[in-house]
Amino acid sequence: MVGLLEDKDRIYTNIYGLEDWRLEAARKRGIWNGTDAMLAMTPEWICDQIKNSGLRGRGGAGFVTGLKWTFMPKQESERPHYLVVNADESEPGACKDREILRNEPHRLLEGCMVACRAMRAHDCFIYIRGEYVLERARLEAALVEAREAGLVGKGNKLGWDCEIRVTHGGGAYICGDEMALLESLEGKKGQPRLKPPFPAGSGVYGCPTTVNNVESISVTPEILRRGAGWFAGFGRPNNTGVKLFSASGHVNKPCVVEETMSIPMRQLIDEHFGGVRGGWGNLKAVIPGGVSMPVIPAHEAETALMDFDSLKELKSGLGTGTMIVIDNSADIVRAIARVAYFFKHESCGQCTPCREGTGWMWRVMERMVSGEAEPAEIDVLLDVASQVEGHTICALGDAAAWPIQGLFRHFRAEVEERIAHYRARKPHVQGATLAAE
Ligand SMILES: Cc1cc2nc3c(=O)[nH]c(=O)nc-3n(C[C@H](O)[C@H](O)[C@H](O)COP(=O)(O)O)c2cc1C
Ligand code: SF4
Repeated sequence: MVGLLEDKDRIYTNIYGLEDWRLEAARKRGIWNGTDAMLAMTPEWICDQIKNSGLRGRGGAGFVTGLKWTFMPKQESERPHYLVVNADESEPGACKDREILRNEPHRLLEGCMVACRAMRAHDCFIYIRGEYVLERARLEAALVEAREAGLVGKGNKLGWDCEIRVTHGGGAYICGDEMALLESLEGKKGQPRLKPPFPAGSGVYGCPTTVNNVESISVTPEILRRGAGWFAGFGRPNNTGVKLFSASGHVNKPCVVEETMSIPMRQLIDEHFGGVRGGWGNLKAVIPGGVSMPVIPAHEAETALMDFDSLKELKSGLGTGTMIVIDNSADIVRAIARVAYFFKHESCGQCTPCREGTGWMWRVMERMVSGEAEPAEIDVLLDVASQVEGHTICALGDAAAWPIQGLFRHFRAEVEERIAHYRARKPHVQGATLAAE
Protein backbone atom coordinates (compact mmCIF):
# COMPACT_ATOMS: atom_id res chain seq x y z
CA MET A 1 0.00 0.00 0.00
CA VAL A 2 1.17 3.51 -0.75
CA GLY A 3 0.77 6.00 2.10
CA LEU A 4 -1.35 5.40 5.17
CA LEU A 5 -4.92 5.89 3.99
CA GLU A 6 -6.80 2.88 2.69
CA ASP A 7 -9.04 3.29 -0.34
CA LYS A 8 -12.14 2.42 1.68
CA ASP A 9 -11.55 5.46 3.86
CA ARG A 10 -11.23 7.99 1.06
CA ILE A 11 -13.77 10.78 1.00
CA TYR A 12 -12.77 12.23 -2.36
CA THR A 13 -13.16 9.22 -4.60
CA ASN A 14 -13.18 11.31 -7.78
CA ILE A 15 -10.45 13.79 -6.95
CA TYR A 16 -8.62 13.06 -10.22
CA GLY A 17 -11.75 13.43 -12.31
CA LEU A 18 -11.53 9.89 -13.63
CA GLU A 19 -15.27 9.54 -13.23
CA ASP A 20 -18.09 11.88 -14.15
CA TRP A 21 -18.68 14.84 -11.82
CA ARG A 22 -22.39 15.08 -12.61
CA LEU A 23 -25.26 14.24 -10.28
CA GLU A 24 -25.96 10.69 -11.39
CA ALA A 25 -22.33 9.59 -11.01
CA ALA A 26 -21.99 11.57 -7.80
CA ARG A 27 -24.96 9.69 -6.32
CA LYS A 28 -23.29 6.39 -7.20
CA ARG A 29 -20.28 7.51 -5.15
CA GLY A 30 -22.56 8.00 -2.16
CA ILE A 31 -23.03 11.75 -2.34
CA TRP A 32 -26.55 12.98 -1.44
CA ASN A 33 -27.14 9.64 0.29
CA GLY A 34 -29.13 10.08 3.49
CA THR A 35 -28.84 13.86 3.37
CA ASP A 36 -32.50 14.27 4.35
CA ALA A 37 -31.86 12.33 7.57
CA MET A 38 -28.89 14.56 8.38
CA LEU A 39 -30.93 17.69 7.79
CA ALA A 40 -33.66 16.32 10.06
CA MET A 41 -31.24 16.42 12.99
CA THR A 42 -31.00 19.48 15.23
CA PRO A 43 -28.30 22.10 14.64
CA GLU A 44 -26.89 21.25 18.09
CA TRP A 45 -26.52 17.58 17.16
CA ILE A 46 -24.76 18.39 13.88
CA CYS A 47 -22.40 20.86 15.58
CA ASP A 48 -21.59 18.27 18.26
CA GLN A 49 -20.74 15.65 15.64
CA ILE A 50 -18.44 18.02 13.77
CA LYS A 51 -16.83 19.08 17.05
CA ASN A 52 -16.33 15.45 18.08
CA SER A 53 -14.72 14.65 14.75
CA GLY A 54 -11.98 17.16 15.61
CA LEU A 55 -12.24 18.78 12.17
CA ARG A 56 -10.13 21.93 12.02
CA GLY A 57 -10.54 24.48 9.23
CA ARG A 58 -8.71 23.52 6.06
CA GLY A 59 -8.34 27.15 4.87
CA GLY A 60 -5.08 27.69 6.72
CA ALA A 61 -5.79 28.90 10.24
CA GLY A 62 -7.03 25.55 11.55
CA PHE A 63 -9.86 26.81 13.75
CA VAL A 64 -12.15 24.06 15.08
CA THR A 65 -15.02 23.94 12.59
CA GLY A 66 -17.80 22.65 14.85
CA LEU A 67 -16.98 25.24 17.49
CA LYS A 68 -17.02 28.04 14.93
CA TRP A 69 -20.51 26.99 13.86
CA THR A 70 -21.78 27.32 17.43
CA PHE A 71 -20.86 31.03 17.44
CA MET A 72 -23.84 31.70 15.19
CA PRO A 73 -27.01 32.91 16.96
CA LYS A 74 -29.13 30.09 18.39
CA GLN A 75 -32.38 31.71 17.26
CA GLU A 76 -33.40 32.77 13.78
CA SER A 77 -34.43 36.44 13.69
CA GLU A 78 -35.26 39.05 11.07
CA ARG A 79 -31.54 39.09 10.28
CA PRO A 80 -30.90 36.09 8.01
CA HIS A 81 -27.96 33.77 8.70
CA TYR A 82 -25.43 33.19 5.95
CA LEU A 83 -22.87 30.56 5.12
CA VAL A 84 -20.08 31.81 2.88
CA VAL A 85 -17.78 29.24 1.31
CA ASN A 86 -14.29 30.51 0.66
CA ALA A 87 -13.24 29.15 -2.73
CA ASP A 88 -10.76 31.94 -3.43
CA GLU A 89 -7.67 29.72 -3.23
CA SER A 90 -5.12 32.25 -4.43
CA GLU A 91 -2.00 31.58 -2.39
CA PRO A 92 0.88 30.32 -4.54
CA GLY A 93 1.24 26.59 -4.00
CA ALA A 94 -2.39 26.06 -2.98
CA CYS A 95 -4.33 23.98 -5.48
CA LYS A 96 -6.45 21.49 -3.53
CA ASP A 97 -9.87 23.19 -3.50
CA ARG A 98 -9.76 23.41 -7.28
CA GLU A 99 -9.91 19.61 -7.50
CA ILE A 100 -13.01 19.52 -5.32
CA LEU A 101 -14.67 22.29 -7.30
CA ARG A 102 -14.12 20.69 -10.68
CA ASN A 103 -14.32 16.98 -9.85
CA GLU A 104 -16.50 16.74 -6.75
CA PRO A 105 -18.83 19.76 -6.93
CA HIS A 106 -21.79 17.81 -5.52
CA ARG A 107 -19.81 16.95 -2.41
CA LEU A 108 -19.40 20.67 -1.76
CA LEU A 109 -23.07 21.42 -2.43
CA GLU A 110 -24.17 18.68 -0.06
CA GLY A 111 -21.78 20.07 2.55
CA CYS A 112 -23.31 23.52 2.13
CA MET A 113 -26.74 22.09 2.92
CA VAL A 114 -25.47 20.35 6.06
CA ALA A 115 -23.55 23.40 7.28
CA CYS A 116 -26.51 25.70 6.61
CA ARG A 117 -28.77 23.45 8.65
CA ALA A 118 -26.21 23.42 11.48
CA MET A 119 -26.17 27.22 11.51
CA ARG A 120 -29.84 27.82 10.79
CA ALA A 121 -28.94 29.49 7.50
CA HIS A 122 -31.19 29.50 4.47
CA ASP A 123 -28.68 31.24 2.23
CA CYS A 124 -25.21 30.26 1.14
CA PHE A 125 -22.73 32.01 -1.11
CA ILE A 126 -19.80 30.24 -2.69
CA TYR A 127 -17.16 32.86 -3.47
CA ILE A 128 -14.89 31.40 -6.12
CA ARG A 129 -11.59 32.67 -7.41
CA GLY A 130 -12.13 34.63 -10.68
CA GLU A 131 -9.47 32.66 -12.56
CA TYR A 132 -11.22 29.35 -11.81
CA VAL A 133 -13.35 29.57 -14.94
CA LEU A 134 -13.83 25.85 -15.61
CA GLU A 135 -14.38 25.20 -11.92
CA ARG A 136 -17.07 27.85 -11.76
CA ALA A 137 -18.80 26.46 -14.84
CA ARG A 138 -18.82 22.96 -13.31
CA LEU A 139 -20.04 24.19 -9.96
CA GLU A 140 -22.82 26.22 -11.52
CA ALA A 141 -23.87 23.28 -13.70
CA ALA A 142 -23.88 21.00 -10.64
CA LEU A 143 -26.00 23.57 -8.83
CA VAL A 144 -28.55 23.59 -11.66
CA GLU A 145 -28.70 19.77 -11.48
CA ALA A 146 -29.13 19.81 -7.72
CA ARG A 147 -31.86 22.42 -7.94
CA GLU A 148 -33.71 20.52 -10.66
CA ALA A 149 -33.46 17.32 -8.60
CA GLY A 150 -35.02 19.11 -5.63
CA LEU A 151 -31.90 18.92 -3.48
CA VAL A 152 -31.28 22.64 -3.17
CA GLY A 153 -33.49 25.73 -3.06
CA LYS A 154 -36.83 26.69 -1.61
CA GLY A 155 -39.22 23.79 -0.99
CA ASN A 156 -36.56 21.17 -1.77
CA LYS A 157 -37.12 17.48 -1.01
CA LEU A 158 -34.54 17.33 1.75
CA GLY A 159 -36.58 19.39 4.18
CA TRP A 160 -34.30 22.39 4.84
CA ASP A 161 -34.98 25.40 2.62
CA CYS A 162 -31.66 26.69 1.41
CA GLU A 163 -30.58 28.70 -1.59
CA ILE A 164 -26.98 28.39 -2.79
CA ARG A 165 -25.44 31.03 -5.06
CA VAL A 166 -22.09 31.10 -6.79
CA THR A 167 -20.24 34.38 -7.09
CA HIS A 168 -16.73 35.06 -8.32
CA GLY A 169 -13.83 37.27 -7.37
CA GLY A 170 -11.81 39.56 -9.57
CA GLY A 171 -8.36 38.08 -9.03
CA ALA A 172 -7.11 39.60 -5.78
CA TYR A 173 -5.41 37.31 -3.27
CA ILE A 174 -6.56 39.51 -0.40
CA CYS A 175 -10.19 38.57 -1.14
CA GLY A 176 -9.36 35.16 0.36
CA ASP A 177 -9.16 36.80 3.77
CA GLU A 178 -12.64 36.28 5.17
CA MET A 179 -13.23 39.93 6.03
CA ALA A 180 -12.07 41.18 2.62
CA LEU A 181 -14.15 38.44 1.03
CA LEU A 182 -17.28 39.74 2.74
CA GLU A 183 -16.59 43.26 1.47
CA SER A 184 -16.01 41.96 -2.04
CA LEU A 185 -19.18 39.86 -1.85
CA GLU A 186 -21.11 43.02 -1.06
CA GLY A 187 -19.68 44.59 -4.22
CA LYS A 188 -17.12 46.76 -2.49
CA LYS A 189 -13.36 46.98 -2.78
CA GLY A 190 -11.79 43.88 -1.22
CA GLN A 191 -10.22 45.45 1.84
CA PRO A 192 -10.42 43.51 5.12
CA ARG A 193 -12.70 44.87 7.83
CA LEU A 194 -11.42 45.25 11.35
CA LYS A 195 -12.44 42.54 13.83
CA PRO A 196 -14.48 42.78 16.05
CA PRO A 197 -17.27 42.58 15.11
CA PHE A 198 -16.68 38.99 14.05
CA PRO A 199 -18.69 37.58 11.13
CA ALA A 200 -20.92 35.45 13.39
CA GLY A 201 -22.21 38.70 14.90
CA SER A 202 -22.05 40.93 11.85
CA GLY A 203 -20.91 39.47 8.56
CA VAL A 204 -22.26 39.84 5.08
CA TYR A 205 -24.85 42.66 4.89
CA GLY A 206 -24.39 43.06 8.64
CA CYS A 207 -25.97 39.66 9.30
CA PRO A 208 -24.66 36.59 11.17
CA THR A 209 -22.23 34.84 8.84
CA THR A 210 -19.73 32.00 8.92
CA VAL A 211 -16.93 31.73 6.39
CA ASN A 212 -15.45 28.29 5.78
CA ASN A 213 -13.04 26.77 3.34
CA VAL A 214 -14.24 24.50 0.48
CA GLU A 215 -12.58 21.41 1.95
CA SER A 216 -13.86 22.08 5.49
CA ILE A 217 -17.42 22.21 4.20
CA SER A 218 -17.24 19.36 1.73
CA VAL A 219 -16.02 16.76 4.24
CA THR A 220 -18.87 17.35 6.68
CA PRO A 221 -21.58 15.13 5.10
CA GLU A 222 -19.18 12.18 5.08
CA ILE A 223 -18.37 12.79 8.76
CA LEU A 224 -22.08 12.54 9.56
CA ARG A 225 -22.54 9.48 7.32
CA ARG A 226 -19.58 7.53 8.69
CA GLY A 227 -19.52 8.96 12.21
CA ALA A 228 -17.42 11.49 14.06
CA GLY A 229 -15.36 8.68 15.60
CA TRP A 230 -14.37 7.39 12.18
CA PHE A 231 -12.94 10.80 11.19
CA ALA A 232 -11.36 11.33 14.59
CA GLY A 233 -9.61 7.98 14.24
CA PHE A 234 -7.12 9.37 11.72
CA GLY A 235 -4.10 11.45 12.69
CA ARG A 236 -3.04 12.54 16.17
CA PRO A 237 -5.21 14.10 18.86
CA ASN A 238 -5.92 17.76 18.02
CA ASN A 239 -4.90 17.00 14.42
CA THR A 240 -7.50 14.51 13.30
CA GLY A 241 -9.07 13.42 10.07
CA VAL A 242 -8.20 12.94 6.47
CA LYS A 243 -6.99 15.83 4.36
CA LEU A 244 -6.02 16.82 0.85
CA PHE A 245 -2.28 17.42 0.53
CA SER A 246 -0.32 18.48 -2.51
CA ALA A 247 3.23 19.08 -3.62
CA SER A 248 4.65 21.27 -6.33
CA GLY A 249 8.19 22.26 -7.13
CA HIS A 250 11.03 19.76 -7.22
CA VAL A 251 9.19 16.48 -6.81
CA ASN A 252 8.95 13.85 -9.50
CA LYS A 253 5.17 13.62 -9.42
CA PRO A 254 3.47 16.84 -8.36
CA CYS A 255 -0.17 16.13 -7.55
CA VAL A 256 -2.98 16.38 -5.00
CA VAL A 257 -3.62 13.40 -2.75
CA GLU A 258 -5.93 12.55 0.12
CA GLU A 259 -4.11 11.21 3.17
CA THR A 260 -4.45 10.93 6.91
CA MET A 261 -3.46 13.92 8.97
CA SER A 262 -0.08 13.54 10.71
CA ILE A 263 1.44 11.44 7.93
CA PRO A 264 5.22 11.94 7.97
CA MET A 265 6.25 14.57 5.45
CA ARG A 266 8.96 12.32 4.05
CA GLN A 267 6.55 9.44 3.51
CA LEU A 268 4.12 11.76 1.75
CA ILE A 269 6.83 13.07 -0.57
CA ASP A 270 8.40 9.69 -1.25
CA GLU A 271 5.28 7.59 -1.66
CA HIS A 272 2.80 9.99 -3.23
CA PHE A 273 4.84 12.66 -4.97
CA GLY A 274 7.46 10.40 -6.52
CA GLY A 275 10.23 11.60 -4.22
CA VAL A 276 12.47 14.62 -4.45
CA ARG A 277 14.05 15.27 -7.84
CA GLY A 278 17.52 13.68 -7.62
CA GLY A 279 16.68 11.79 -4.41
CA TRP A 280 16.03 12.76 -0.81
CA GLY A 281 19.66 13.80 -0.38
CA ASN A 282 19.08 16.54 -2.94
CA LEU A 283 16.37 18.17 -0.81
CA LYS A 284 17.14 21.64 0.44
CA ALA A 285 13.92 22.82 2.06
CA VAL A 286 10.14 22.54 2.12
CA ILE A 287 7.48 25.22 2.39
CA PRO A 288 4.77 23.13 4.07
CA GLY A 289 1.58 25.10 3.31
CA GLY A 290 1.06 27.87 0.78
CA VAL A 291 3.98 30.30 0.49
CA SER A 292 3.01 32.16 3.66
CA MET A 293 4.28 29.27 5.80
CA PRO A 294 7.92 29.56 6.92
CA VAL A 295 10.33 27.27 5.12
CA ILE A 296 11.84 24.29 6.96
CA PRO A 297 15.23 22.78 6.05
CA ALA A 298 15.71 19.21 4.81
CA HIS A 299 16.81 17.78 8.14
CA GLU A 300 13.57 18.98 9.77
CA ALA A 301 11.48 17.76 6.82
CA GLU A 302 12.95 14.32 7.50
CA THR A 303 11.03 13.95 10.76
CA ALA A 304 8.17 16.49 10.42
CA LEU A 305 4.58 15.27 10.51
CA MET A 306 1.98 16.86 8.28
CA ASP A 307 -0.16 18.35 11.00
CA PHE A 308 -0.81 21.59 12.83
CA ASP A 309 1.16 20.80 15.99
CA SER A 310 4.25 19.19 14.48
CA LEU A 311 4.84 22.04 12.04
CA LYS A 312 4.09 24.64 14.70
CA GLU A 313 6.81 23.11 16.87
CA LEU A 314 9.16 23.66 13.95
CA LYS A 315 8.12 27.35 13.89
CA SER A 316 6.25 26.83 10.64
CA GLY A 317 2.67 25.77 10.01
CA LEU A 318 0.49 23.31 8.11
CA GLY A 319 -1.38 26.13 6.34
CA THR A 320 -3.35 24.50 3.56
CA GLY A 321 -1.09 21.43 3.46
CA THR A 322 -0.03 22.31 -0.08
CA MET A 323 3.74 22.09 0.05
CA ILE A 324 6.44 23.45 -2.21
CA VAL A 325 9.51 21.25 -2.37
CA ILE A 326 12.84 22.96 -3.05
CA ASP A 327 15.94 21.03 -4.09
CA ASN A 328 19.60 22.02 -3.98
CA SER A 329 19.55 23.49 -7.46
CA ALA A 330 17.28 26.31 -6.34
CA ASP A 331 18.39 29.73 -5.20
CA ILE A 332 16.37 29.81 -2.00
CA VAL A 333 17.12 33.47 -1.34
CA ARG A 334 15.72 34.38 -4.74
CA ALA A 335 12.70 32.15 -4.13
CA ILE A 336 11.85 33.93 -0.90
CA ALA A 337 12.47 37.33 -2.52
CA ARG A 338 9.89 36.34 -5.14
CA VAL A 339 7.48 35.41 -2.37
CA ALA A 340 8.11 38.83 -0.78
CA TYR A 341 7.23 40.45 -4.11
CA PHE A 342 3.96 38.54 -4.19
CA PHE A 343 2.88 39.87 -0.81
CA LYS A 344 3.94 43.42 -1.71
CA HIS A 345 1.86 43.14 -4.88
CA GLU A 346 -1.18 41.78 -3.04
CA SER A 347 -1.18 44.16 -0.05
CA CYS A 348 -4.45 46.09 -0.09
CA GLY A 349 -2.66 49.17 1.22
CA GLN A 350 -5.00 49.84 4.11
CA CYS A 351 -2.51 49.68 6.97
CA THR A 352 0.88 51.33 7.05
CA PRO A 353 3.07 48.45 8.34
CA CYS A 354 1.85 46.21 5.54
CA ARG A 355 1.63 48.80 2.76
CA GLU A 356 5.11 50.22 3.44
CA GLY A 357 6.70 47.17 5.06
CA THR A 358 5.97 44.64 2.31
CA GLY A 359 7.53 46.88 -0.37
CA TRP A 360 10.49 47.71 1.84
CA MET A 361 11.11 44.07 2.74
CA TRP A 362 10.92 43.03 -0.90
CA ARG A 363 13.43 45.69 -1.98
CA VAL A 364 15.89 44.67 0.72
CA MET A 365 15.37 41.01 -0.17
CA GLU A 366 16.33 41.80 -3.78
CA ARG A 367 19.61 43.21 -2.50
CA MET A 368 20.12 40.09 -0.39
CA VAL A 369 19.72 38.05 -3.57
CA SER A 370 22.47 39.93 -5.39
CA GLY A 371 24.61 40.21 -2.25
CA GLU A 372 24.66 43.98 -2.44
CA ALA A 373 23.10 44.41 1.00
CA GLU A 374 25.10 45.47 4.04
CA PRO A 375 25.62 42.59 6.53
CA ALA A 376 23.93 44.69 9.22
CA GLU A 377 20.80 44.95 7.08
CA ILE A 378 19.89 41.38 7.89
CA ASP A 379 19.02 42.33 11.46
CA VAL A 380 17.28 45.50 10.29
CA LEU A 381 15.20 43.40 7.91
CA LEU A 382 14.28 40.96 10.67
CA ASP A 383 13.41 43.85 12.93
CA VAL A 384 11.09 45.35 10.32
CA ALA A 385 9.53 41.92 9.68
CA SER A 386 8.78 41.61 13.39
CA GLN A 387 7.16 45.04 13.32
CA VAL A 388 4.92 44.09 10.41
CA GLU A 389 3.99 40.74 11.98
CA GLY A 390 1.04 41.08 14.33
CA HIS A 391 0.58 44.81 13.72
CA THR A 392 -1.87 44.82 10.84
CA ILE A 393 -5.60 44.52 10.25
CA CYS A 394 -5.43 41.14 8.58
CA ALA A 395 -2.97 38.25 8.49
CA LEU A 396 -1.42 39.26 5.16
CA GLY A 397 1.11 41.23 7.20
CA ASP A 398 2.09 38.05 9.08
CA ALA A 399 2.09 36.11 5.83
CA ALA A 400 4.61 38.57 4.37
CA ALA A 401 6.90 38.46 7.40
CA TRP A 402 6.96 34.69 8.03
CA PRO A 403 8.75 33.50 4.86
CA ILE A 404 11.54 36.03 5.44
CA GLN A 405 11.87 35.06 9.09
CA GLY A 406 11.96 31.38 8.06
CA LEU A 407 14.70 32.03 5.51
CA PHE A 408 17.00 33.70 8.01
CA ARG A 409 16.22 31.20 10.75
CA HIS A 410 17.68 28.41 8.62
CA PHE A 411 19.71 29.93 5.80
CA ARG A 412 21.24 33.05 7.31
CA ALA A 413 24.76 31.76 6.74
CA GLU A 414 24.01 31.37 3.04
CA VAL A 415 22.94 35.01 2.73
CA GLU A 416 25.93 36.20 4.75
CA GLU A 417 28.22 34.21 2.50
CA ARG A 418 26.63 35.78 -0.56
CA ILE A 419 27.13 39.26 0.83
CA ALA A 420 30.76 38.46 1.68
CA HIS A 421 31.34 37.06 -1.77
CA TYR A 422 29.89 40.16 -3.43
CA ARG A 423 32.01 42.44 -1.29
CA ALA A 424 35.16 40.42 -1.91
CA ARG A 425 34.66 41.04 -5.61
CA LYS A 426 33.87 44.73 -5.09
CA PRO A 427 36.27 46.10 -2.49
CA HIS A 428 35.07 49.65 -3.17
CA VAL A 429 31.73 48.80 -1.53
CA GLN A 430 31.25 50.99 1.51
CA GLY A 431 32.39 49.26 4.68
CA ALA A 432 33.95 46.34 2.85
CA THR A 433 37.00 44.72 4.26
CA LEU A 434 39.78 45.51 1.81
CA ALA A 435 42.29 42.82 0.97
CA ALA A 436 45.14 45.18 1.90
CA GLU A 437 43.87 45.68 5.46
C1 LIG B 1 -4.53 37.08 2.89
C2 LIG B 1 -5.37 35.88 3.21
C3 LIG B 1 -5.82 35.04 2.21
C4 LIG B 1 -6.61 33.93 2.51
N1 LIG B 1 -7.02 33.13 1.48
C5 LIG B 1 -7.84 32.07 1.75
C6 LIG B 1 -8.34 31.26 0.70
O1 LIG B 1 -8.06 31.46 -0.47
N2 LIG B 1 -9.15 30.22 1.04
C7 LIG B 1 -9.50 29.97 2.34
O2 LIG B 1 -10.27 29.04 2.60
N3 LIG B 1 -9.04 30.72 3.36
C8 LIG B 1 -8.23 31.77 3.09
N4 LIG B 1 -7.80 32.56 4.11
C9 LIG B 1 -8.27 32.27 5.49
C10 LIG B 1 -9.67 32.87 5.69
O3 LIG B 1 -9.52 34.20 6.20
C11 LIG B 1 -10.49 32.07 6.72
O4 LIG B 1 -9.71 31.88 7.87
C12 LIG B 1 -10.93 30.72 6.19
O5 LIG B 1 -11.65 30.84 4.99
C13 LIG B 1 -11.80 30.05 7.22
O6 LIG B 1 -12.18 28.78 6.80
P1 LIG B 1 -11.87 27.47 7.65
O7 LIG B 1 -12.16 27.78 9.08
O8 LIG B 1 -12.77 26.46 7.08
O9 LIG B 1 -10.42 27.17 7.42
C14 LIG B 1 -6.97 33.67 3.85
C15 LIG B 1 -6.51 34.52 4.87
C16 LIG B 1 -5.72 35.60 4.55
C17 LIG B 1 -5.26 36.49 5.65
S1 SF4 C 1 -2.45 43.70 6.47
FE1 SF4 C 1 -2.09 44.40 4.39
S2 SF4 C 1 -3.62 43.36 3.19
FE2 SF4 C 1 -4.28 43.22 5.35
S3 SF4 C 1 -5.59 44.99 5.66
FE3 SF4 C 1 -3.54 45.66 6.18
S4 SF4 C 1 -2.73 46.55 4.26
FE4 SF4 C 1 -4.50 45.32 3.73
